[in-house]
Amino acid sequence: MSDTEIPIWAQEKIIHEGAEATVSEGKWFGKSAISKVRRKRGYRYPELDLKLTKKRISAEARILYRLRKESFPCPSIYYLNTNNSQIIMSKILATPLYEKLNTLQSPKLILEKIGKLVRKLHLCDISHGDLTTHNILISPKEKLFMIDFGLSKISPEVEHLGLDLQVLSECLTASHANIENPMEEIIRGYISNDDVPSSKNANNVISRFKEIKSRVRYHG
Ligand SMILES: Nc1ncnc2c1ncn2[C@@H]1O[C@H](COP(=O)(O)OP(=O)(O)OP(=O)(O)O)[C@@H](O)[C@H]1O
Ligand SMILES: [Mg+2]
Repeated sequence: MSDTEIPIWAQEKIIHEGAEATVSEGKWFGKSAISKVRRKRGYRYPELDLKLTKKRISAEARILYRLRKESFPCPSIYYLNTNNSQIIMSKILATPLYEKLNTLQSPKLILEKIGKLVRKLHLCDISHGDLTTHNILISPKEKLFMIDFGLSKISPEVEHLGLDLQVLSECLTASHANIENPMEEIIRGYISNDDVPSSKNANNVISRFKEIKSRVRYHG
């Protein structure tokens, strides 16, 4: 390759091989970037499988595009290829919260920040769909980012918003059991951001979350 030639996408290394997606680091026109290629799952009808895979990757790209327009802290989208179910996005210099949360000096402060971040997402009229500490990244200066919007919804129902909090709550109980009552801080952050008069206002979402929680407890 000559000096003047810059490859469009130059893959460097695979950083995550999940059940459904391969995530790798590389350079996009010479700039550090992340590629995510969604695989077909192989157990559905092949045509339906391909359709669903394409649908999820384009939904993810669409949501990243929308969120960045709202200055939401998430990757910016560089490229979408529905033929091979690939997106290329900016690389965030941060670590999954899953690895950091148990060792932080003051997890309470971070939990309140998470609550604010989740409310910010919901105020963009988007639900996440898989809100675990693997999908929230924390930078060395403790700034938070959200990733992995493959199960997100635009214009979600209040139930989806409540479910985001429920998934987060279950993740905190399962993986961060050393933190006492984490949802207290999350809720404090969540309701501090606003109280717009709508059916999806913060207090209604919190009530729905509590309802879902008791439903889950009751039905096991
Ligand atoms: N834009 C990014 N910047 C930095 N790291 C990233 C970025 N996107 C993904 N990663 C890293 O790769 C990991 C996997 O990415 P992601 O969560 O999007 O895939 P996944 O969990 O396999 O997706 P899915 O659950 O939709 O199948 C993340 O936990 C994170 O460590
Ligand atoms: Mg993920």
